[in-house]
Amino acid sequence: MTDWITMQEIDEAVAFIHSRTAQRPRVGIILGSGLGGLADVIAEADIIPTAEIPHWPASTVQGHAGRLVIGRLEGQTVLVLQGRSHYYEGYSMQQVTLPVRVMQRLGIETLVVTNAAGAVHPDFEPGDVMLITDHIALIGMAGLNPLRGPNLSEFGERFPDMSQAYDRQWQAVARQVAQEQGIVLREGVYVCLAGPSFETPADLRFLRAIGADAVGMSTVPEVIVARHGRTRVLGLSGISNKANLNGDAETTHEEVLAAGQVLVPKMTAIVRGFLRQMA
Ligand code: HPA
Repeated sequence: MTDWITMQEIDEAVAFIHSRTAQRPRVGIILGSGLGGLADVIAEADIIPTAEIPHWPASTVQGHAGRLVIGRLEGQTVLVLQGRSHYYEGYSMQQVTLPVRVMQRLGIETLVVTNAAGAVHPDFEPGDVMLITDHIALIGMAGLNPLRGPNLSEFGERFPDMSQAYDRQWQAVARQVAQEQGIVLREGVYVCLAGPSFETPADLRFLRAIGADAVGMSTVPEVIVARHGRTRVLGLSGISNKANLNGDAETTHEEVLAAGQVLVPKMTAIVRGFLRQMA
C-alpha cells in the first residue's frame, strides 16, 4: 500500500456520503479534541459514523467521536467532522487529510478548523481561544507534507501558494464576532508537531524562538490540503494547557479534554457568529 490516496478512493467516499444525505454543505467544520460539543447544536442533522465511510481513517483517540454531522446551523448548510485522525495514530499524511479532499469534492468552499493546543506564548492561558493567523509546518518542512506524491491536479497545482493560508477576510469576521460577544480572542501562529509525546521544555523554548504561539498535533496538514484546492480557511485553537517551559508541571490528555469544557461555549459562540456573518 502506498501513502497516497487516489481520486477513485476520494470519490467512493463522496458517493457513500451522497447516498446518506441529500444536504449539500458549503462549509466544513473540523472539531478538535474535547471540542465535539459543537456538533450537538446542528439542526436537521444527518449523522454518518465515519467507520462506515469507505477509505476513511478511523479516529482512535479518546475525545474524538468519529462521525460526520451534516445539517443546518445559523443559516448555513454545514458538514461537521467530529473526530479527526492524526498522523501519530499511524496514518499517512494523505490519509489524515482524506476528509478535506472529500469535503472539497462535496462542494465545500470554506473550512473551519479547530484544535486543542498548548500555549507557547507566555501570556496565553488554558481556556483562551486563539485565532490562527499563520502556521509553521515544522513536520512538513521535515518531509511529512500531505501533498507529497502524485499531484491531484483535479484540486490544484503542484506547488501551491501558502502566503495567505488563513483567509484574511474570515479572520476579520472572527475578530468582529468575538468583539461583539465580549470574547477575548488571542491571535497567533500555530505549529504542528507529529506527536504523540508532548514537548520537552527545550522543545518548547525552541518553538517559541522560531515564532510559534501555540503547539498541537493536527490542523496544518488539513490546511495545506485545503489551500491546494483553494478552499478558504478559518482556524481557531482552543488553548488547553500552559507551555511547560521549565519542566515543573506535567501535561496530560485529561487536562486537554477538561479545558474543552470551558472552550466549547466560546468556540461555539465564535463559530455560530462566523456562520451568521460570513454571508
Ligand atoms: N502540545 C502538543 N499538542 C497539544 C498540546 C500540547 O501541549 N495540548 C493540546 N495538544
